[in-house]
Amino acid sequence: RRFNVAVAGATGAVGEVMLSILAERDFPVGTLVPLASERSAGSTIEFRGDDIVVQDLATFDPTGIDIALFSAGGDTSKEYAPKFAAAGAVVIDNSSAFRYDDDVPLVVSEVNPEQVTQRPRGIIANPNCSTMQMLVALAPLHRRYGIERINVTTYQSVSGAGRSAMEELGKQTAQLLGFQEIDPQKFPVQIAFNLIPHIDSFLDNGFTKEEMKLVWETRKILGDDSIQVNPTAVRVPVFYGHSEAVAIETREKVTPEAARELLASAPGVEVVDERRPGGYPTPVTHASGKDAVFVGRIREDLSHPRGLNLWIVSDNIRKGAALNAVQLAELVAAEG
Ligand code: A2P
Repeated sequence: RRFNVAVAGATGAVGEVMLSILAERDFPVGTLVPLASERSAGSTIEFRGDDIVVQDLATFDPTGIDIALFSAGGDTSKEYAPKFAAAGAVVIDNSSAFRYDDDVPLVVSEVNPEQVTQRPRGIIANPNCSTMQMLVALAPLHRRYGIERINVTTYQSVSGAGRSAMEELGKQTAQLLGFQEIDPQKFPVQIAFNLIPHIDSFLDNGFTKEEMKLVWETRKILGDDSIQVNPTAVRVPVFYGHSEAVAIETREKVTPEAARELLASAPGVEVVDERRPGGYPTPVTHASGKDAVFVGRIREDLSHPRGLNLWIVSDNIRKGAALNAVQLAELVAAEG
């Protein structure tokens, strides 16, 4: 059986990779419909060697669409995803619009794939990129040793903020190297040769929404509201690939050797943990353009009897967004 697939946000940083991953993994696409705003309606995108005309999401009739992948921002999802679902499509939504709704499953394909079928509204939510890669690595440890607390600091690349954010990093870098003035637009302050401890909006508790996503989504996906998460989310001048310094506290002690062995056979994880220069994953050397979640720097937390430190790196546009969305589509397709 083939599926008619719509991609909303097909011209964006994530949408573009959704198209290439659908092709790369040979997803059984019947008709592919790329959708975006009226700004890019009429332009073409390439899919499996064909040029396909982008249509305006606002005026597109979703009748006949089987699966819709949405990555065009939260407000766009809120407005249009329910219309696609009402027309019979299964919506896989990459925005945060529905993630915390009780009747919308939030699924990492390696962690809680069984939950894709529990979708009364026809909508499945794709987790935030930082939560996604963290849980691919931590879920196996949680199941075996019981994670009580997670301290995490993220180092997030600019592609997570979309195409215009990547352009801003490139432009500022060139301008600063040419001794020119810069004019920050997408980020509140200079991002080139800098880092910014602020992603998404500030909340009343002093955390940013990006940080609270790590708290809320970790609990929902692992199905355990007792897990404590203490997050700091930082934007860094990297184009592709998020990195995370993670310190976990477990109920039962886990040694670095045991963690390495468990993670070596965990789905979606690659351990890169040699204690020598370059023997650890970085966004550029390992993650960018790859599917796996890379884990290195595994070592005991000297300050806690049941603490373990890890360094977790993955391509935020692939596993953190587009790849997981396509993997969820594969689970839906497998239902027949
Ligand atoms: P467009 O190219 O027409 O602006 P990115 O995350 O890289 O900034 O990409 C965002 C994606 O979401 C783009 O494909 C963009 O289309 C699309 N998009 C943004 N706003 C809307 C909207 N109101 N309706 C439909 N698509 C939208």
